[in-house]
Amino acid sequence: MHENIEKLQIKFREAIENTGDLSQLENIRIQYLGKKGEITLLMRSMNQVPVDQRPIFGKRVNELKKLAEEMLEHKKSQLHSVHSEKRWEKERLDVTLPGRPFEIGKKHPLTMVLEEIEEIFTCMGFKIAEGPDVELDYYNFEALNMPKEHPARDMQDSFYINPEILLRTHTSPVQIRTMQAQAPELPVRIIAPGKAYRRDDDVTHSPMFHQVEGLVVDKGISLADLKGTLLLFAQEMFGKEREIRLRPSFFPFTEPSAEVDISCIICDGKGCRICGETGWLEILGSGMVHPKVLEISGYNPEEVTGYAFGMGVERIAMLKYGIDDIRLFYINDLRMLRNVK
Ligand code: PHE
Repeated sequence: MHENIEKLQIKFREAIENTGDLSQLENIRIQYLGKKGEITLLMRSMNQVPVDQRPIFGKRVNELKKLAEEMLEHKKSQLHSVHSEKRWEKERLDVTLPGRPFEIGKKHPLTMVLEEIEEIFTCMGFKIAEGPDVELDYYNFEALNMPKEHPARDMQDSFYINPEILLRTHTSPVQIRTMQAQAPELPVRIIAPGKAYRRDDDVTHSPMFHQVEGLVVDKGISLADLKGTLLLFAQEMFGKEREIRLRPSFFPFTEPSAEVDISCIICDGKGCRICGETGWLEILGSGMVHPKVLEISGYNPEEVTGYAFGMGVERIAMLKYGIDDIRLFYINDLRMLRNVK
């Protein structure tokens, strides 16, 4: 009997000593101390032991059980610390390694062009004005000399919210808002950058686009001031050798009106595919502020005159960066955005 206990103890000790991982250790526990484990069964065999030997037998088996439990516990904590050391080794970080460089973002090409336009005009003494994108029909059309039945309203297919409110079709309503807020103070000298909306969608037209409006009102302002200012702008924006020309045009809110072209930035005026062999590129609409517009805005057209212009920012950005599809500005394709210098 005692021999059996002795043998079992030796067998158990060997098993413990030879195991190297925790799951194996658990198997050993089950094998010896589980419900049908060898030590457990030995305890249960008590009734087969002669009565007089039972107390001593019971004592020995109990000792074995206790010893086995202690050894298991001890081995378990040993394996745990080995395990965590190995993990530590695997997860070790070399904090002296150089960091991974991360890409630095940059401004969107439209933002860059907008900021450049703003910079050029603020250097000439213009202030920046703003107006709402959701605009009253009154500011967008009516006050700009386009009454309800005016045919110019049909030229701009608009996004109406209700019969009185729409998404502004141009930045010109900011002219009215600025003058009405400032009148009769002189001079008025502002640019108004912002979004405009029209029901267009093709390679050169987007339903949302950007414009920069310009407005100067003072005593004695003439077409020459308009031309001089825009020539300076064109040269700052597209190079010192740029020339401009004014072509007669029509806008209900300016009289006379002119479309302004710059000499082609690709062929320098010789004629190429970009300028359609004309040597000129149209960049904006302009004119002398219509007397009716001055009047409705609180200025006396007998005393003051003014000029206004409105340019398309996408158009300028497309020319500057050689982009031939306006939609590229809005799909955020990094291949295009990265390339713009
Ligand atoms: N608002 C006009 C447009 O969107 C441009 C313009 C502005 C023309 C100011 C004359 C004066 O086409």
